[in-house]
Amino acid sequence: MNLLIDLIATFLCVALVHGYIEKPGPRYPPTKGEVWPRPQTQIKNGSYFILKPSLFQFKLTTKHGECTLLKDAILRYELLIPHAYAIVQKTLDTFNHTNHKKIWHTDKKFLGNINYFDVELTSSCNDLEYPTDISYEGYSIVISEGTKRLNSTSVWGILKGLESFYQSIYLADDYLSLRINKTFIDDHPRYSHRGLLLDTSRHFIPLNKILLTIDAMSQNKLNVFHWHIVDDQSFPYVSQKFPELSEKGAYVSFYTYTPAQIQVVIEYARIRGIRVIPEFDTPGHTRSWGVAHPEILTACEGDLAGKYGPINPAREETYDFLNELFGEVKEVFADNYIHLGGDEVEFECWESNSNIAQFMKKHKIGDYNALESYYIQKVINLVDKLKYKSIVWEEVFNNGVKVPKETIVHVWKGDWTDTLLNVTQNSYKAILSSCWYLDHLDSGGDWESFYYCEPNMFSNDTVLQSRLIGGEACMWSEVVDTNNVISRIWPRASATAERLWTEQIDDEDFDVVRRRLEEHTCRMNRRGIEAQPPNGPGFCVV
Ligand SMILES: *[C@@H]1O[C@H](CO)[C@@H](O)[C@H](O)[C@H]1NC(C)=O
Ligand SMILES: *[C@@H]1O[C@H](CO)[C@@H](O)[C@H](O)[C@H]1NC(C)=O
Ligand SMILES: *[C@@H]1O[C@H](CO)[C@@H](O)[C@H](O)[C@H]1NC(C)=O
Ligand SMILES: *[C@@H]1O[C@H](CO)[C@@H](O)[C@H](O)[C@H]1NC(C)=O
Ligand SMILES: *[C@@H]1O[C@H](CO)[C@@H](O)[C@H](O)[C@H]1NC(C)=O
Ligand SMILES: *[C@@H]1O[C@H](CO)[C@@H](O)[C@H](O)[C@H]1NC(C)=O
Repeated sequence: MNLLIDLIATFLCVALVHGYIEKPGPRYPPTKGEVWPRPQTQIKNGSYFILKPSLFQFKLTTKHGECTLLKDAILRYELLIPHAYAIVQKTLDTFNHTNHKKIWHTDKKFLGNINYFDVELTSSCNDLEYPTDISYEGYSIVISEGTKRLNSTSVWGILKGLESFYQSIYLADDYLSLRINKTFIDDHPRYSHRGLLLDTSRHFIPLNKILLTIDAMSQNKLNVFHWHIVDDQSFPYVSQKFPELSEKGAYVSFYTYTPAQIQVVIEYARIRGIRVIPEFDTPGHTRSWGVAHPEILTACEGDLAGKYGPINPAREETYDFLNELFGEVKEVFADNYIHLGGDEVEFECWESNSNIAQFMKKHKIGDYNALESYYIQKVINLVDKLKYKSIVWEEVFNNGVKVPKETIVHVWKGDWTDTLLNVTQNSYKAILSSCWYLDHLDSGGDWESFYYCEPNMFSNDTVLQSRLIGGEACMWSEVVDTNNVISRIWPRASATAERLWTEQIDDEDFDVVRRRLEEHTCRMNRRGIEAQPPNGPGFCVV
């Protein structure tokens, strides 16, 4: 009897150990032609067409007239398709790889060549249009024997569809041909605000890396570039009205973003369907503003004498200055939203300052939370007068500041489910970042925790849920610069992108998700994005 138990125990033990022994080869082989983020509806079929880049073309039709925006987009994809192929062939040549087993397409799954793809915009096109918070982004794709077509009622939907079409193309196992499967896709985003925050103050991020980031965002259907452009450490934004801010506040005079460069970023983003929302965080996080304009900051007194604290809310001229600055910012950045910050205000310097004490007494402001509220209230009012809508970090709401109803509250702290509940119960719109801090590193596979973060968890009330309009992955740049910013963000932010695009995804087979991300990462690599490997051992041919 004992012997039997021993035998069973030994067997179980061996079985368990075997379960953990690595097999040779990649841990999660990439999928073939899977779209990331996953479309809401896709009917798949393993039958495929062959796409020969030299024969293939897009055929664009619009409701009326020209559409330069889409013509240019099509041109980009027309170059990308052969590029992905050529880059792999070049690698094979480097290794003197010859394909011995050419696959002849006589199998039943082969449906013929795909030589064209119809792109139909069923509305008129305004080439100068900017994407907004209410832009429609849905599209449909059919690839079948009879029909090969993408359609949408908006240019932004067409852009998303072109990306999905491109992602559906994959290399055959022999690396000799490009394939695309027969399929039907009907797709639209779950949330309208799908963002990436990039901090360009803690480390300066050069223009080319910003553009590359925006490129990668479009590959993940993210649509808001939240540009955390200035902070305590440096002020790289070149203001036309106050050029001294960056002349003195940038790390060095040339680590700045000039008006012309900012226009390049905005236009690069626009034609990819991405909004650019700048953040000018006040009253805290403003130390670099004070290099040129110490008078707008609070001069600390007592033990802290010689140091500067947050913006001085007691000084009326400060609001005139901000009015001028934000008036300019609104002209420069086309979007109708500005992010006003309002996070992490430290009170000790305010507490030390005797003028502020007098001011509070005079205005019957009881404590420093109330003083902060007084300040933010005034800033929000002046921005409101500029017809500029605002996003604020959650502290502004938590401190009970009265903000206009369309203000978006940006939730970033740990107790986010409670905060989201409170914000939405108070009828404000919210965006979430708490679970998508890219600067918090776990191990290589930490994108999975990003993926598991389900924003709707805060409530089962659909009205409250509808007030949550999206989220942002945040790349604070204390420990990233031009050398590692791209690989730190990607493909980790891809997990956030899918969470924000695709409706409830909890029933998914997680191994398939891993394999899809493996393919998506290789695809980004082929497009020049140095995304890091997501799943441990494996390889990409790039
Ligand atoms: C896939 O497409 C082929 C070719 O049109 C068709 O014969 C087959 O029935 C389809 N399979 C499924 C599961 O729909
Ligand atoms: C495409 O078809 C192949 C088989 O021909 C299959 O392995 C692959 O998973 C399919 N991909 C998609 C996205 O349907
Ligand atoms: C490939 O072939 C060329 C020419 O025969 C040779 O010079 C080169 O070293 C080879 N490369 C590799 C990686 O074997
Ligand atoms: C695309 O066209 C089909 C057929 O006309 C239509 O049913 C579908 O709603 C259209 N899709 C979009 C996103 O406009
Ligand atoms: C909800 O937020 C308000 C401020 O807007 C605050 O006074 C209140 O304590 C919060 N409630 C909870 C339960 O956190
Ligand atoms: C939502 O409903 C589910 C299922 O009834 C429950 O487990 C969960 O606790 C609810 N969530 C909230 C925030 O009330």
